[in-house]
Amino acid sequence: MKKIIYIDEKKIKNKKIILRVDFNVSLNPDNTISNDERIRQSLPTINYLLKNNNQLILISHLGRPKKYDENFSLKIIIPKLKEYLPEISISLAKTIEEIKIKNDKIIVLENIRFFPEEKNYSTIFAKKLSSLGNIYVNDAFGVCHRTDTSVIGLPKFLPSYGGLLLKKELTIIDKSLKKIKRPFIAIIGGAKVSTKIGLLEKLSKITDYLIIGGAMANTFLASKNINIGKSFCEYDLIEIARRFLSKKLTKKPYIILPKDVIISDSKESKQSETVKIEKITSNKSIFDLGPETLAEIGNVIAKAKTIIWNGPVGYFENPIFKNGTDFIYYSITQNQKAVSIVGGGDTIAAISKKEYLDKITHISTGGGAMLEYIEKGTLPGIEALKK
Ligand code: 3PG
Repeated sequence: MKKIIYIDEKKIKNKKIILRVDFNVSLNPDNTISNDERIRQSLPTINYLLKNNNQLILISHLGRPKKYDENFSLKIIIPKLKEYLPEISISLAKTIEEIKIKNDKIIVLENIRFFPEEKNYSTIFAKKLSSLGNIYVNDAFGVCHRTDTSVIGLPKFLPSYGGLLLKKELTIIDKSLKKIKRPFIAIIGGAKVSTKIGLLEKLSKITDYLIIGGAMANTFLASKNINIGKSFCEYDLIEIARRFLSKKLTKKPYIILPKDVIISDSKESKQSETVKIEKITSNKSIFDLGPETLAEIGNVIAKAKTIIWNGPVGYFENPIFKNGTDFIYYSITQNQKAVSIVGGGDTIAAISKKEYLDKITHISTGGGAMLEYIEKGTLPGIEALKK
């Protein structure tokens, strides 16, 4: 059977390595890094490869630019990397040609999404990139669900290996989901049913409780003919949401939707009220889960043995609507008997009191990638690495 060979299973010495990382970090409005978790999680692989006297050419994306855009330049990454690797010479190369004339131990290629051939898969571009090194290592779990050239193209031209972060992500998720300890619960938030319906279908087959929060819960409530006022809703998905709920009425999992919610005039508002879902007025919108719903969720989290959480359950950007997301995080950290996997930079960025983070079994660097891996059992970037 074809499988990934990881860098710690092979002697890789004195080589020029093209290392695909996911430095798609969360940014503050002033363009500084707000959460460098993804950089820190890449350090074991970087250090491991450096130790064996390899030179590293780092490739990453940041944001979703379609062409050069100063706001998404990887130059903000360089001081961070230097902070973690003070002894190492590190520089940024704006072009592929520039890489060839640099001698630093780590050369970071400018945002790979500045090159249109990254998204529009190009064999020529893959070949050109591959000519920069003699080995390819993928440590970018967060982007393995994409068919971008730097993810699936390079393994066609170079001996290719998985990095230590990729190994850690796949090992922990596989271990937790292959021999599931029950009750197994999933908490899925975020805005859109459209991006997560496949995952919900998959989770509905394997979980005991499926908790739906965030703006995507609105679409499910609307499918039950509940007046959701002015709340965000994907009206074109109501039928799909209705079918999803009706299929599951009698069987496991038990689906938890909001029973009460926090509503307000607008997301910027400083005032809110708590109402039962039957009492939502037409001029208001839902921005968070209410206390009765949270109490129910808290009980379910407390007895769970396996927990997956992805996506904030309220409009956390406004502090008056982040109680639900904080409560879920706190409840998960209080259940030390469970294996807990939390995914997605936004989910972590959304929570307060980050000092409890080490009480979570695994914080995945993948958002979409983690969900798609759970849903499909593999990803294009993983398949490309298998030999
Ligand atoms: C992520 O943030 O989930 C990854 O970096 C992938 O980014 P993308 O959704 O822009 O492809």
